[in-house]
Amino acid sequence: MSEWLNALAPARPAGPGLAGAVGTPNPLLPLYPPVLPETSPPHPPGTDPGACPGTHADPPSRRPVAHPGLSETLRARIAREFMPRWTQEWGGRFFAEGRVPGPQSIRLDGNDYLSVAGHPDIVSAQIEALRQQAGFTVQSSVFLRPDSPVHQFECDMADWLQVPNVVLCQSGYAANLGLLQVIAEPDMPVYVDTLAHMSLWEGIRAARARPRPFRHNQPAHLARCIREHGPGVVVVDAVYSTVGALCPLREIVEVAEQGGCMIVVDESHSLGTHGPQGRGLCAELGLTHRVHFITASLAKAFAGRAGFFTVPEELRYLSRGAFPNVFSSCLLPYEVVGLQATLALIQQADAARRRLHQLSHRLRSHLLDLGYPVAQGTEQIIALEVGREVDTLVVRDALEAQDVFGAMFCAPATSKEGALVRLTLSAGLTDVEVQRFERALTQLAPTLKPWDWPAARRQRRRAEGHRLQALPGQGTSQDAAPACARAPASCLPAESVAH
Ligand SMILES: Cc1ncc(COP(=O)(O)O)c(C=O)c1O
Repeated sequence: MSEWLNALAPARPAGPGLAGAVGTPNPLLPLYPPVLPETSPPHPPGTDPGACPGTHADPPSRRPVAHPGLSETLRARIAREFMPRWTQEWGGRFFAEGRVPGPQSIRLDGNDYLSVAGHPDIVSAQIEALRQQAGFTVQSSVFLRPDSPVHQFECDMADWLQVPNVVLCQSGYAANLGLLQVIAEPDMPVYVDTLAHMSLWEGIRAARARPRPFRHNQPAHLARCIREHGPGVVVVDAVYSTVGALCPLREIVEVAEQGGCMIVVDESHSLGTHGPQGRGLCAELGLTHRVHFITASLAKAFAGRAGFFTVPEELRYLSRGAFPNVFSSCLLPYEVVGLQATLALIQQADAARRRLHQLSHRLRSHLLDLGYPVAQGTEQIIALEVGREVDTLVVRDALEAQDVFGAMFCAPATSKEGALVRLTLSAGLTDVEVQRFERALTQLAPTLKPWDWPAARRQRRRAEGHRLQALPGQGTSQDAAPACARAPASCLPAESVAH
């Protein structure tokens, strides 16, 4: 646990173990109370106790069981669409199966940005809720009574965010899908940033609305699209989940208002990390009252398993008809109580937010200096945009050989030729880990030659375009040329200079 959280954690008396926490035994259950092993210590998160750190884990071996077999059409599709990728690109193993991290590994593959997971306040609140869960009915959240912990948490979130209402959902995916299914209608234009999260696109599809993609982070293109297709809904992420780019939200809101559109902002990667008390980018920019709907996953800085959307009073009851809220069960009390405890921690986490932003700045500058093309983003998500899947796997494996673990992203999370290794920072990274990361990336640069990746070439071309536009008499752009990846002089072989 990071130091800032240790400072927040009150000293707690040792409570009874989980095995002693169960209520009245149910004679119909075969083994009750459950027998929990008391002697084996928990293994570090993400490690498989059976596997050696630094090796590949084999799937558990299982006896084959009978299956009726697949249809010819499905077989043909597997052979056509999947097998070439499996054999040629991935070398016969699933792309996400790299090495097994060990306890000393540098983990940049999660979204617990403020390092709250496992905080004693969260854990003890959850244990207490599990003890008292006996009378709880698992049901769809539309049936929850007004005094349920879910509604209490929704009110607390709404007060914190300074919005009229919050509707809690099982995940960020469910929140985005459900909200758009409720607010959009068939054939309505929904202007969606090309890098917006898949769940938003799925919501547009569920509503049978018409997606009108606009170029990533380009308000001028959004304005052109709205002029062409008329008022509808504008959909953006506050921080983009693949590359860590910040949305130019002020400009986007202005364009949406001028075009008579409602606006949805997904704050999954800015809630907790940005704004006063972590209230997000809308709050940081003073835009909350001009944004119609905010959504977020609570599986990022909240490190839980939930999501939410905000709605005005008029939609409070209608929005409870979002399909995931009606046709899927609600969160369990221990999950909600855990989120409540997390909210209290996040409100006090200014030191962690500062640390996270400092780390983002420091590591991004370091990578840029080394020639890695990370200029697309500015925030705590850093994408090593390698391009082809086969090359990206090489980079992922090289990082893991240095004990640095990111997440491999490829289609459908990226374009087919836009695969990347995503590195997510957290306030809990120690100085030693940061230095080890910097050393690893420095050592790898001459081998990986990141200045030759397609993204680096694209960024150089774009920077050159900006430079020419800014020449006297050559256009009106006031933008400074963005930073772009170049090979450091010490790494440049003579023939690379032409790039
Ligand atoms: C921007 C964004 N929105 C929504 C989601 C979905 O969140 P969840 O994992 O809670 O379903 C994610 C997670 O990948 C995300 O990055």
